[in-house]
Amino acid sequence: MAKPGIRYVCTNCGAITLKYSGKCFECQSWETLQEMHDEPRNNAGEKAASAWNPPPCETLAPQNDPAPPARKTTGMRELDRVLGGGLMPSSAVLVGGEPGIGKSTLMLQLAPSASLAGTLYVCGEESPAQVRDRARRLSITSDAVRLLPEVRLENILAAIEKELPEIVVVDSIQTLFSGEYRSSAGTITQIRECTSELIRRAKTRGFILLIVGHITKAGSLAGPKALEHMVDTVLQFEGENHLRYRIIRSVKNRFGPTNEIGVFRMEEEGLEEVTNPSEFFISDRSTDIPGNAVLGAIEGTRALLVEVQALVSKTNFTMPQRISSGFDLKRLSIILAVLEKRLGIPTWGQDVFIKVAGGLRLVEPAADLAIAAAVASGVRNTPLDPSTVCAGEIGLSGELRAIGEGERRIREAAHLGFRKILLPEANTRELKAPVLGLPLDIVGCRTLQDALDRML
Ligand code: TYD
Ligand code: MG
Repeated sequence: MAKPGIRYVCTNCGAITLKYSGKCFECQSWETLQEMHDEPRNNAGEKAASAWNPPPCETLAPQNDPAPPARKTTGMRELDRVLGGGLMPSSAVLVGGEPGIGKSTLMLQLAPSASLAGTLYVCGEESPAQVRDRARRLSITSDAVRLLPEVRLENILAAIEKELPEIVVVDSIQTLFSGEYRSSAGTITQIRECTSELIRRAKTRGFILLIVGHITKAGSLAGPKALEHMVDTVLQFEGENHLRYRIIRSVKNRFGPTNEIGVFRMEEEGLEEVTNPSEFFISDRSTDIPGNAVLGAIEGTRALLVEVQALVSKTNFTMPQRISSGFDLKRLSIILAVLEKRLGIPTWGQDVFIKVAGGLRLVEPAADLAIAAAVASGVRNTPLDPSTVCAGEIGLSGELRAIGEGERRIREAAHLGFRKILLPEANTRELKAPVLGLPLDIVGCRTLQDALDRML
């Protein structure tokens, strides 16, 4: 039965329903619905409509255009690039990631950098002593960063009014609560209300708001999707937190490109930028082992070479396993079906494991060909040509479909000394002289069969 005044919000996808159920009707995840109370705040809304004065509207005429605001650089070039050129004044950025992945470290590192004076660091999770300890480890000795051990929203807002900081870091949003609501910290009501109040304040007072939010292993932060709509930019940490590498991806950005990634290494002295990520994503590969392929990828605005691995082995289960880290399982199923049906490369009765180097998550369809090649190489137990890079989207009839940014993939492969690149034929038709002059073979393939024939 629906209860009056109570709604349920899915912490995974943000869907709202009136009736509780164990499973979200929208995203089908289990036990993610959280109770949310409709709590009236005050009676301002009841004022007669005639009592309000509408503000004047603006036109789109060019004389109304203010000069674009100068962005603040964070002192980390990789991070600035992910943000689309630095932090935008008055913007709200949500930084999500699993516990222990480096969110607090990143916040502390970017706060005192040259152009950023006056940061208010709200440490709801750790004591100032712990934060100071970390700062010492990171050799940060700036007095521009002020620590505020507080979790009550009203007190935080008061501190902002008093300190008038340039940046406010909230670490983490799950620890905050507003006295206006009865629910406890970490519930969806509190998270949403605290965030929206802070954002409102950031826009009127003109500070940059950085919100840290925890995401569980399953990928959900209490209310992350709801927050994603509210903030301007969402940065997400990817990668395994027991490995040294960290990838920061912009999954939403009102002021820059999305899906832009920055690669970092967690060192003793904090996060360090990795400026040549291609070399890192193909660094430890073994060239004579079946099942390894090199993908010419585009991540955001950057071309990257990435190693993908497939292990195909006889199953001990009635249902063979399909396990993938860094690549979508549904797309893997489609590729396996195409390999079996169109090319006669069967994987039934075999477990298939896929792994993308460095904890990277491949989202673009151009990754298909490398995955298919790795699987085919695993099935045949024959290594692929180690000096070949490939990229291409696979269609259901086994054809290779055109992909974006062929030229940039070619340049990156040549830059790292690969001798051959396989691309969909459509991508190789109108190449210009500088690309054709590069010291590598550019091979256009119409079908997956054609591409595999040239690699295996
Ligand atoms: P932290 O920023 O506290 O993670 P989060 O805020 O996302 O929970 O970082 C946690 C990990 O990073 C911890 O395991 C220690 C490690 N670390 C380093 O390796 N080097 C460093 O300089 C710092 C500060 C942390
Ligand atoms: Mg932390």
